[in-house]
Amino acid sequence: MYFPLPCCYHGTGYLKEPFLLELYYLLYMKILFATANPHKVEEVQRLLGAAFEVVTPAQAGYADDIPETGDTLEQNARQKARFIFEKFGQPCFADDTGLEIDALDGAPGVYSARYAGDAKNPAANMQLVLQNMLGVTRRTARFRCVIVLILDRREYLFEGRVEGEILTTLHGTQGFGYDPIFRPAGYACTFAEMPVEEKNRLSHRGKAVAQLAAFLQGVKTAATRRNEQSPATPR
Ligand code: IMP
Repeated sequence: MYFPLPCCYHGTGYLKEPFLLELYYLLYMKILFATANPHKVEEVQRLLGAAFEVVTPAQAGYADDIPETGDTLEQNARQKARFIFEKFGQPCFADDTGLEIDALDGAPGVYSARYAGDAKNPAANMQLVLQNMLGVTRRTARFRCVIVLILDRREYLFEGRVEGEILTTLHGTQGFGYDPIFRPAGYACTFAEMPVEEKNRLSHRGKAVAQLAAFLQGVKTAATRRNEQSPATPR
């Protein structure tokens, strides 16, 4: 078990029965994020706010790869979350994101990172998209981010999406991945031409994490209230 127990809760009768281990940890506000990407951790931590401390598997003692072999974003997010839950038995979540292009039947989708090969080269990925869309007039697409949370041995799924279209050339230098060829609906510029704060505000990941944050906050508030209402029983 990784998270240290806060002494004010431990053995003092402060927590009442029935109190599930997951809620215990949730009150302590730490949650595992099944990723090895420090930029994602930083972004998600910023979006979750000070109410929760995001901990990576590496920080908790597991630094190897997390398997990701599903055929859909949902399968991948679930697989990663279950893998980490089996290792630590603590509240955790995982995400998976893809760019879905309608004219390419949803590709690159779950294969977005390695669309042009295992090198995961964003420039090559974008070139392949542009090549596969030469002469295509129907250019609608979306980023979709799926988060699976495991809490109290139950799984919860959150999804954020942002609709837009694929341009015919690259625009802008901000961001990462497919940002230079994706223009969100209602905007005159690509993700790569926007300040990062603006992108995060309207992005697929921002929306999915906002749902996760609202849910966790609700669970935490309910758990705190329940604990306050039940009579103290010394342990
Ligand atoms: P992941 O599941 O978040 O690692 O995303 C998989 C792949 O989708 C990344 O390697 C990128 O190619 C692409 N991707 C995910 N999010 C974004 C984004 O916000 N902008 C551009 N590309 C993204």
